[in-house]
Amino acid sequence: MNLLIIGGGGREHAIAWKASQSEKIKNIYVVPGNPGIAKENKIEVINIKDPDIEDYIKIAKNKKIDLTVVGPEAPLVDGIVDEFKKHKLLIFGPNKLASKLEGSKDFCKKILNSGNVLTAKHESFTDPKDAISYIDNQQMPLVIKLDGLAAGKGVFIVQNHQEAKDLIQDLFSKEVRHKKQLLIIVEDFIKGEEASFICLVSGDQVVPLASSKDHKKLNNGDTGPNTGGMGAYSPTKLINDDLSKNVINEVIKPTLNELKKLGIEYQGFLYAGLMIDQNKKAYVLEYNCRLGDPEAQAILMRLDSDIIEIFLATINNNLKNIKIKWKTESACTIVLASQGYPGKYEKNKIITGLDHKVDNVKIFHSGTKIINDQFVTNGGRVLAVTALGVNLQVAQAKAYDRCNQISWEGKIKRHDIADKEINNKFIFS
Ligand code: GLY
Repeated sequence: MNLLIIGGGGREHAIAWKASQSEKIKNIYVVPGNPGIAKENKIEVINIKDPDIEDYIKIAKNKKIDLTVVGPEAPLVDGIVDEFKKHKLLIFGPNKLASKLEGSKDFCKKILNSGNVLTAKHESFTDPKDAISYIDNQQMPLVIKLDGLAAGKGVFIVQNHQEAKDLIQDLFSKEVRHKKQLLIIVEDFIKGEEASFICLVSGDQVVPLASSKDHKKLNNGDTGPNTGGMGAYSPTKLINDDLSKNVINEVIKPTLNELKKLGIEYQGFLYAGLMIDQNKKAYVLEYNCRLGDPEAQAILMRLDSDIIEIFLATINNNLKNIKIKWKTESACTIVLASQGYPGKYEKNKIITGLDHKVDNVKIFHSGTKIINDQFVTNGGRVLAVTALGVNLQVAQAKAYDRCNQISWEGKIKRHDIADKEINNKFIFS
């Protein structure tokens, strides 16, 4: 088979690397990819600038692609799956309507509420005055979210009323500048531990992937601004078998039922961002219509089955007949990022220390390019260093050891990825 993978970050590197191990696969094309992905077996990167759905369709036809897998949310929300299907091209991922679960937080909240799924109380606003008068009567902290896609950077936690008002005024003044109507969601803050519940969905069939936990805040101790994710690990005891069954029955299935009532059938990865409170109740913070990044890097490092068979079983409504195997080891992923991320950062810093190979450690590239035969930085999140270990502590130590051998001017990372799990420091431990 010839496989096309859409996207160019660490998650797509992990998908491509795993797919390259499948005996079913002859060639893999990744668009736009990155030079780290291009170094993998069987893989060719087609680096076109700002590719659109038409470009992907042309590539799928020219390269005789048998299956396309979409990594990031934006093409899904734009309807790539619907367009491929019109051209009778096989593709893995939810269609445009189903992807609205991620594309619109307001839509997501409506579905959660109509399905009686546990989620924070919220109100949505298009007028800053209404938002501010609502906030005046709410307890702090509050969570303020932008409705559309924001690459993990559209969620703000405010600690007092003044901070909330300043933020709302700032967001709406940007709206005026960008001439785009803004919809914001103001919701209650739920205290607890965040975990990523990612499953495969095909119609009514739901199969959870290995459990995982991301670290969204920039700094140690879960402080600082939100990012796309600074590190992840798998598995996590936050999601045990009981909770997993509970989430499938009381979160995922009711959500799919609500979509069905609207005539929407879901197919692909479905990622529920959960907050697990001190009573071990799981609240849905958000839905994503794809694998998480960097969760994918940790999860796929543990996958012991053929990922292509998993994609095909999902597309063919055959999930109930597959048994996904996971390595018993733990995986830990540390993101190395550029100083300034998630704000402004410099690019083109020469990266050293990438060359030597260490057993059971994999370096996934997110934001790199090659200048004069050398890898240089080309993004906020640059590398996702992932290690497997007999337990999480070993995986963490191996991942950090490898991170310490890699350098560039302005390299940053968190130093406490997985610490809470290793040291039993969850609020309910
Ligand atoms: N790591 C969070 C996300 O992929 O949305």
